[in-house]
Amino acid sequence: MTFTLPPLPYAADAFGDTLSAESFSFHHGKHHKAYVDKTNELVGVTVDLAGASLSEVIRAASDRGNRVLFNNAAQLWNHSFFWQCLTPDPVKPSGKLAGLIDDFGGQDALVSALKQEAVGHFASGWAWLVLDGGALKVTSLHDADSPVVQDGIKPLLTIDVWEHAYYIDYRNARPSYLDALLAKAINWDFVAQNLDGEGIARADQAG
Ligand SMILES: [Fe+2]
Repeated sequence: MTFTLPPLPYAADAFGDTLSAESFSFHHGKHHKAYVDKTNELVGVTVDLAGASLSEVIRAASDRGNRVLFNNAAQLWNHSFFWQCLTPDPVKPSGKLAGLIDDFGGQDALVSALKQEAVGHFASGWAWLVLDGGALKVTSLHDADSPVVQDGIKPLLTIDVWEHAYYIDYRNARPSYLDALLAKAINWDFVAQNLDGEGIARADQAG
């Protein structure tokens, strides 16, 4: 069995100018697909990983210092998680998530912290909202690094800050991309689901 490119959970043109269909055609159809294809190619020559789930492949590659396999498999997972973090019809956080956001300092403080982390992240990587010891924490990880191999944190939300994520619609203006996504496209329902600590499974695939 091979890993597959998960379909987008919405139409590619659903976000209008916020994220264009052309942007999705490259980001999902070419960048994400390339990570899928390369992961399958690499797992295909690693006999003892045949049948391993995507998260198992990521952890094994990390443990063995196999950077090429780790980078491709982690990027496969990171993007599969990222698409689910977006929605063209966002609703405000409620329930338990709203309480945790209040503890953080409120919605404006959280959005500001996410923007600051994402804009300030040097070069390629991912901004993350994670659950750490029962509280919300904003952080970022470099390149393909992923919460799949980070002990103690549970992924809730991610924003891709690789240049390929925003160059078609925003050119070099990463802050404008962040402003648009945070105001118009965050799937807070998905974030709330991940409070169960099972976020890694939501972008995993069987081997
Ligand atoms: Fe990306």
